[in-house]
Amino acid sequence: MRHDFADRRSFAMQPWIAPSILAADFARLGEEVDDVLAAGADLVHFDVMDNHYVPNLSVGPLVLESLRRHGLARVDVHLMAKPVDRLIGDFIKAGADFISIHPEASEHPHRSLGLIREGGAKAGLAFNPGTPIAFLEPLIEAVDLVLVMSVNPGFGGQAFLPSSLAKVRAARRLIDASGREIRLQIDGGIQRDTIAAAFAAGADTFVAGSAIFGAPASGGTRMDDYQAVIAALRRELDAQRP
Ligand code: DX5
Ligand code: ZN
Repeated sequence: MRHDFADRRSFAMQPWIAPSILAADFARLGEEVDDVLAAGADLVHFDVMDNHYVPNLSVGPLVLESLRRHGLARVDVHLMAKPVDRLIGDFIKAGADFISIHPEASEHPHRSLGLIREGGAKAGLAFNPGTPIAFLEPLIEAVDLVLVMSVNPGFGGQAFLPSSLAKVRAARRLIDASGREIRLQIDGGIQRDTIAAAFAAGADTFVAGSAIFGAPASGGTRMDDYQAVIAALRRELDAQRP
């Protein structure tokens, strides 16, 4: 059964924090996702890299299936893989709630987004730093989430690219003009000192890998450490509210 996001927060744009498992301890992945969700994360960001579309290799649908069996309920899959269509089916079977694709990784992005929705998941479209946001206009009816990359995809722990803020603002304008409920996610280099600017630009869903899983160990439990970072990120967001 897919998680009903509406029972946690209104889908209408409460900010969500999505820890990226790329920075987690893979030897203890089940506990790691339990800990970040217990610490207040809204969903878990699952980065899939294929050593072809991006120069790194991460995890596939078998790992997601295991995490679902373990109890992971809320997961957003970011496919950095090419070709992408067959993987979409695999990740739907594995239980993804959201699946995002890069337009460059599909011959027919409109069809790929349709495959995601037909499978019962929410469809996301991801924009690299070098990809124009204009790609969104003809596809906006087909998306439930727009992912703006604020680093080049392939690695965690990179520095936030400030040029991504203009793209977030442009995406926000297109989303608002559409009148549809579309999440606006930012991914890459999100930390305490960058999250507020991303929020002010119009993002509502914040991926953070190294900021959360790389939190310094305080001597308490890892859940306590994650809770401290997530609370600090939320304070930065709250400080932006009128
Ligand atoms: C980069 C991935 C990101 C990354 C985020 O290719 O898509 O999700 O893991 O990691 P941080 O937050 O460390 O930049
Ligand atoms: Zn990602």
